[in-house]
Amino acid sequence: MKHPQYKIWKDLIEEHLYDFLPAIDSKSKTLQESMVYSLKAGGKRLRPILLLAALDFCNSDVKQGLPYACAIEYIHTYSLIHDDLPAMDDDDLRRGIPTNHKVFGEGMAILAGDGLLSAAFEAMTKDMLLYMDDAEALKRRVRASHTLIKGAGVRGMVAGQVCDVEIEGKTCSKEMLDYIHLNKTAALIMAPIKAGAFLAGADEKKLMALTTYGECIGLAFQIMDDLLDVVGNEEDLGKRVGKDAQLQKATYPAIYGVEASYQRLEELTNKALDVMKPYYDQAEFFNELALYLMKRVG
Ligand code: IPE
Ligand code: IPE
Ligand code: MG
Ligand code: MG
Ligand code: MG
Repeated sequence: MKHPQYKIWKDLIEEHLYDFLPAIDSKSKTLQESMVYSLKAGGKRLRPILLLAALDFCNSDVKQGLPYACAIEYIHTYSLIHDDLPAMDDDDLRRGIPTNHKVFGEGMAILAGDGLLSAAFEAMTKDMLLYMDDAEALKRRVRASHTLIKGAGVRGMVAGQVCDVEIEGKTCSKEMLDYIHLNKTAALIMAPIKAGAFLAGADEKKLMALTTYGECIGLAFQIMDDLLDVVGNEEDLGKRVGKDAQLQKATYPAIYGVEASYQRLEELTNKALDVMKPYYDQAEFFNELALYLMKRVG
């Protein structure tokens, strides 16, 4: 993405990504290696950037969001490690390198996911402990972490993954497809945007606009992911293509066709842009991001 702020925030995330990981006992060295292996592999860092962008949009200091931004990247990385396991999507390539279980074995990959998820809780609650005497600052942090955990949990990403796995090889209704995409992906994209707004103490109007924006680009993100599995290539994506058809996954192209999926993608992007219109130039980053995500190749 061209907007200079993307690189600035991405670099900030890369610089601090390991700061909030708890020190792991040397007896569990493999766990540490396995967790860091998948974090270090890279990725777009979209979710933490969204959290920082929301803080900035609400005229608040982005650095205060770092523990929460890193926490969401830990959670996202855990979700990828587990998603790639043989019992789930059975993938051998992620972020351009062999998947975690291919290097460390299935047991360790499961534990690395567990480790990253609990590290996210530690990162956020450790930050909260610093604000025990500041009720307002503490309230904002509790709201932010509640939003992130809810998005990742049994009413969010995990719920979507459950249906994604259960529907494999079966007929999927359009309603169910939206449920899956909204939960397995959009929930984890909306959550950091809302968390940034909560940390900044944003007013209700801004929170509503950001929530709708997040839902639209979140849904669009998974439609694009599904499309790239059909029309994209391994090198740009850093993961295998053609897997969804092979596993008979419930995807947008499978149910609506490629053309209609592109159309839906455009509609959702336009809706995201519309909702930010009242904010004019202030929403420049979010607008550019929505357009970039619609054209991404990786
Ligand atoms: C991949 O997410 C999983 C989906 C929700 C489609 P990303 O495409 O954001 O993966 P990274 O973080 O850039 O590797
Ligand atoms: C996964 O969706 C979403 C997650 C919660 C990890 P996919 O299974 O389509 O993601 P990729 O294509 O493997 O990245
Ligand atoms: Mg999957
Ligand atoms: Mg997958
Ligand atoms: Mg996919």
